[in-house]
Amino acid sequence: MKVLNVAVLGLGTVGTGVVKIIEENKKQIEDTIGKSIHIKHILVSNVGKKRAINTSCYHLTENIEDILNDDELDIVVEVMGGIEPTVEWLKTFLSNGIHVITANKDLLAIHLRDLEDLAEKNKVALKYEASVAGGIPIVNAINNGLNANNINQFMGIFNGTSNFILSQMTREGKSYEEALQLATDLGYAEADPTDDVEGVDAARKVVITSYLSFNRVISLNDVERIGISNIEIEDIKVAEKLGYKIKLIGQGKYENGSVVASVKPTLLPDSHQMAHVEDEYNAIYVIGDSVGDTMFYGKGAGSLATGSAVVSDLLNVALQFESDLHTLPPHFELKTERTKELVE
Ligand code: NAP
Ligand code: HSE
Repeated sequence: MKVLNVAVLGLGTVGTGVVKIIEENKKQIEDTIGKSIHIKHILVSNVGKKRAINTSCYHLTENIEDILNDDELDIVVEVMGGIEPTVEWLKTFLSNGIHVITANKDLLAIHLRDLEDLAEKNKVALKYEASVAGGIPIVNAINNGLNANNINQFMGIFNGTSNFILSQMTREGKSYEEALQLATDLGYAEADPTDDVEGVDAARKVVITSYLSFNRVISLNDVERIGISNIEIEDIKVAEKLGYKIKLIGQGKYENGSVVASVKPTLLPDSHQMAHVEDEYNAIYVIGDSVGDTMFYGKGAGSLATGSAVVSDLLNVALQFESDLHTLPPHFELKTERTKELVE
């Protein structure tokens, strides 16, 4: 059996989920791709840290050079976070003909198009399923499942942490602070949870989803944004009495050649399906001109849910580049052709 050499950057919430899934579903995964998976390196910031999994069989390193200088690598999985120097490393990997999978929406909300161009130029894959809505395969759904449609609108709950906080305040009577701490302990929140509660994380996902849905590049500043940090338990109770739930809703509309995008706390009537999306779950409506309304639902954050999306990217890259890991498959060409049509 051929070997697929993989480096994983980061062994936190998501990295641990990725390694666990590869370990626990190894036979099924390897049978599917017809290759054995070898995790050659795992990059961390502190090799001495106690880990949630047994790492004795892995090469843990704090030195990115170990990975940058390894010319046997096929795929780099970036689940580390941060924008600099991460983006420079990803560019180096793509330029060196190594496929890149990332969950890093902070970085993608700024550099997605550049990275896609670089991947196309070097005939390698750039995959980022986990960057929007955690475990929900929304990137694949828009890129592939809905590619017969013009998409002019999407809306949804894009941030697990803020939805978790609102649910815990409503259902369990927890304070805002208690609920945020719990979301952090459960691995849903970002390293700086301000991004979750102020709508920045959701706005980044709206930027990426706009790119996927409308073929338009927008920036974070183009997304009108209000977070949930000022919502009080009284607001939630009053809304409930009137038959509404408060949800942090992200949306994008393509109108007259431009994108209108926002992230805002929104009153949803109890009769609305999204009013019943609780805790770390996300749900996203995408409206296509042929298919009509579609809705995607699942865990938007957390170790195994996000790991599921990352490992799915890994399988898809291995399958697409099956015969020769550096040969561009036809449907990858199609996707990148669309990229070329992007409006400046
Ligand atoms: P995390 O728990 O904080 O883990 C980050 C990992 O990266 C840690 O293992 C850390 O090493 C390592 N790391 C960070 N900076 C490093 C550096 N400069 N050099 C070497 N290693 C470094 O983060 P996470 O929640 O897994 O998130 C990872 C990425 O996935 C982020 O981009 C995040 O936005 C994205 N994401 C997260 C979720 C989620 O549910 N958590 C969902 C979707 C996407 P140490 O362990 O030694 O500290
Ligand atoms: N902090 C993010 C959230 C992780 O809560 O949705 C998933 O992207």
